[in-house]
Amino acid sequence: MNLLIINCSPRVKAKSNTNIIVRAFADGYTKQGNTVEIYNLSELGKWDEIRVAFYNHENILMALPLFVESIPGIMLEFLETLSPKSNSEGQPKTKLSFLLQGGFSEASQLRCGERYLEQIPGFLNCEYGGTLIKGSMFIIHMLPETSSKQMVSPFIEMGEVFAIDGKFDKEKVNKFAAPEYYSKRFILLHTLLSPLNKLFFAIFFKKNGCLGSLTAQPYKKMCFQKD
Ligand SMILES: Cc1cc2nc3c(=O)[nH]c(=O)nc-3n(C[C@H](O)[C@H](O)[C@H](O)COP(=O)(O)O)c2cc1C
Repeated sequence: MNLLIINCSPRVKAKSNTNIIVRAFADGYTKQGNTVEIYNLSELGKWDEIRVAFYNHENILMALPLFVESIPGIMLEFLETLSPKSNSEGQPKTKLSFLLQGGFSEASQLRCGERYLEQIPGFLNCEYGGTLIKGSMFIIHMLPETSSKQMVSPFIEMGEVFAIDGKFDKEKVNKFAAPEYYSKRFILLHTLLSPLNKLFFAIFFKKNGCLGSLTAQPYKKMCFQKD
């Protein structure tokens, strides 16, 4: 079966975590002879082509990062240009599934976005195929290639499972997305290790070209101050 994958991140392909995840997912999905066609909404000049692909495919996966607890603006803009799909009598509805990933680790952070995505297929006369969710993805494109490949390797397996099931099974998704919330023990440990964590990030971001302090608030003086 052919799967149309649309990377809905505004980040250019070379810098997009979603792109790395989608490639891993596609590797799994195509293992048994299925095929994929991948597009990126960040390539604005290709939107006409992507729209045509949307209308022509019956099996579609929209992959997106969580941005400020929401779907990326570029995705919303694209969705607004689509009309509900028309299907002739007896023809099954298009299956529209989602892959939602974010920077924070707890799956609970992604649930609000998941609830929103559940509604989109209905607006487009499609059938909902479920949403695969996963946190802790912030760092992928900053890692060396071997480490980033290792980090996204679980998506290969999920691609294989999706090829068999044809949709995302809620129970399997929840297992994959865990932890839903950090345990109290983990939070305590994290708090104790916080100074080490801060040191790690200070070194890490300096290496990535950050010139100032991580706690700098350059726009604070422009904010309205209450007396
Ligand atoms: C402006 C901005 C807002 C973000 N907001 C959230 C958020 O609310 N929750 C979260 O878990 N991750 C958030 N992230 C992290 C991204 O979801 C994460 O880094 C993702 O892997 C980026 O994928 P991309 O490189 O394909 O765009 C945010 C990142 C940016 C740049």
